[in-house]
Amino acid sequence: MPVGRSVRVKVPATSANLGPGFDTLGLALALYDDLTVTVREAPGATVTVHGVGEGEVPTDETNLVVRSIAHTFAAAGVPMPGVQLIANNSIPHGRGLGSSGAAIVSGIVAAKGLLEGIVELDAAQLLALATELEGHPDNVAPALFGGLTIAWMSGTGPAHKKLMVHRGVSPLVFVPEHVMSTALARSLQPQSVPHEDAVFNVSRSALLIAALVQSPELLLAATEDKLHQNYRAQAMPETNRLISALRAAGFPAVVSGAGPSILVLCSDPAQRLAAASLVADSAETVWQPLMLAVDFLGATVQRTAGTP
Ligand code: HSE
Repeated sequence: MPVGRSVRVKVPATSANLGPGFDTLGLALALYDDLTVTVREAPGATVTVHGVGEGEVPTDETNLVVRSIAHTFAAAGVPMPGVQLIANNSIPHGRGLGSSGAAIVSGIVAAKGLLEGIVELDAAQLLALATELEGHPDNVAPALFGGLTIAWMSGTGPAHKKLMVHRGVSPLVFVPEHVMSTALARSLQPQSVPHEDAVFNVSRSALLIAALVQSPELLLAATEDKLHQNYRAQAMPETNRLISALRAAGFPAVVSGAGPSILVLCSDPAQRLAAASLVADSAETVWQPLMLAVDFLGATVQRTAGTP
């Protein structure tokens, strides 16, 4: 691995579950972590973070991006070089917008870029590595491939199908100041659910694909869920209250990932202003509204011009 080789990586935020599609559906959003990884002579890693996570995330080999680079080099059978990493982060941490998935995908895609010409990694290998590190594929699939993704575990590992969403679909995310732990949210889920609840979610998640791809007017019915949001509601009461208020007013609102952010899948751009004013009028704490486009590219990596 030549010293001085450098890649620039850009990875989108993601919203997982989308209501009924627990651990399966995810949407890439146009809000990015952007980083440069350069191979250096000295072993180990130094990390400089600007923006989100500055002064908070580890800046040595324990950093999640660095661990993901190391995991990918190990999988490729190539010794991990020393690296210098400079990150400009915009994806909020601990809010249900896929920041850990984005960090993992950043490391894996950076390693892919550095390894180009030495070992080639295909899409299935990237998804397998990312899912191993994240534990579930629904954030890392859209972070890697963009758009709307259906991800599932097959006998040979994770698989995905990417879809383009209807041009009317207009995501709006409300981000609170407080955080939620995904591990805590997952611990609130029961081991088994009533059969009728499973049928309820099968119907809604099938409908959700049709609504997102072809018929956005069905998004309110298509975003109903009985598998995860009720069980987790006690841990994020304001998220739950605002989602109920938004849905009662006709807006297709769901918990974004494991929360506490809220995703509203508006069926046209104008609907977003009305939803934002409803939240501004009824929230008890500060919720930042982000009107985000769907990202269709997913993670990108470029070799810095002129590097070996
Ligand atoms: N499907 C995951 C969950 C997404 O809801 O626990 C959060 O990372």
